[in-house]
Amino acid sequence: MQYNIAVIPGDGIGPEIITEARKVLDRIGTKYGHSFLYTEVLMGGVSIDATGVPLTDEALEIAKNSDSVLLGAVGGNVGQSNWYSLPPNLRPEAGLLAIRKGLNLFANIRPAILFDELKGACPLKDEIIGGGFDFVVMRELTGGLYFGERKTVEENGIRKATDTLVYDENEIRRIAKWAFEIAMKRNKKVCSVDKANVLDSSRLWRQITKEVAKDYPEVELSDMLVDNCAMQLVKDPRQFDVILTENMFGDILSDEASMITGSIGMLASASLGDTKLGLYEPSHGSAPDIAGQNKANPIATILSAAMMLRYSFDLEQEADQIEAAVKAVLKKGYRTVDIMSEGMRLVGTKEMGDLIVSEL
Ligand code: NAI
Ligand code: MG
Repeated sequence: MQYNIAVIPGDGIGPEIITEARKVLDRIGTKYGHSFLYTEVLMGGVSIDATGVPLTDEALEIAKNSDSVLLGAVGGNVGQSNWYSLPPNLRPEAGLLAIRKGLNLFANIRPAILFDELKGACPLKDEIIGGGFDFVVMRELTGGLYFGERKTVEENGIRKATDTLVYDENEIRRIAKWAFEIAMKRNKKVCSVDKANVLDSSRLWRQITKEVAKDYPEVELSDMLVDNCAMQLVKDPRQFDVILTENMFGDILSDEASMITGSIGMLASASLGDTKLGLYEPSHGSAPDIAGQNKANPIATILSAAMMLRYSFDLEQEADQIEAAVKAVLKKGYRTVDIMSEGMRLVGTKEMGDLIVSEL
């Protein structure tokens, strides 16, 4: 089978980590008889330097017509133009918002996995992490507080600002469905996180989530208030399988979840919509401080490519293989600088990619 992938290397370490992810995909292609065709797309600072804007209509069109999008990272200040001096809507990061919106990617999934080999990097106590944890945070990405009506006014000399948290039932239903679908492929538990003791939008969230749950009798649904969830993530992260939540709660909780896994260089993500087309990218940025030095950890991007195989192409076994290969290389003691610890073997970006490929 042939798959068309729009590839966006972007800025900083982006091109280096994308090169490694492509090597891994190509190995999987050879092994299983798939052909992955890549179309390179400019986005971010490199696009600003070439075209004046962070994402052109033509670039977005290529992404729309592909089977999925694999992204490195954008931003930093390493191009010809001084990107930081540009207005927000013309900066490299504006390309990210434009592509998520342009592809209608309303569901953001961030796995939080504590690899056995990296337990030392986890800030939680041994008795809490036990045998390690593996859950995903499913964050609604195109609604809620960040997209509701907002205004700032001055009344009688008092400055006043308003943001609005709005969800309609369709927006809740479609993300809830995604969460249940993903739970079906995992340990069949969804914890829906809200603030239903205070917010109307959360009460609707709870109601709709329960309605969706009727279509998934095998999945166990629980509700949790967001403040409690913030505590539970550090008290007992092993209780979670899929955490489903609205945009702002998910923004905050997914950062908390990523911290307890230890390293930003390990964290993959997927942004999904109504179709099979998804956007896959590491959770970190363009790391301009280490760009071009063969120091970046490519694992987050490689694991994002594995998520692409699983969610966009339904290549479950191939995705499992990539994840197993990553674990095997870590088990053998190879580390990039961000996850390096005493007694381990330090390798660069390219070597880490090669090791994972040879494991496959
Ligand atoms: P960052 O994630 O790029 O870097 C933070 C720290 O983590 C740095 O010390 C960096 O060297 C290290 N780091 C990040 N990824 C790594 C990897 N794969 N291997 C080893 N070390 C790694 O965040 P920062 O510095 O706040 O942002 C840099 C630029 O990236 C900014 O312009 C920011 O707007 C942009 N950014 C882009 C994102 C995206 O494209 N999705 C997401 C976050 C930030
Ligand atoms: Mg955030």
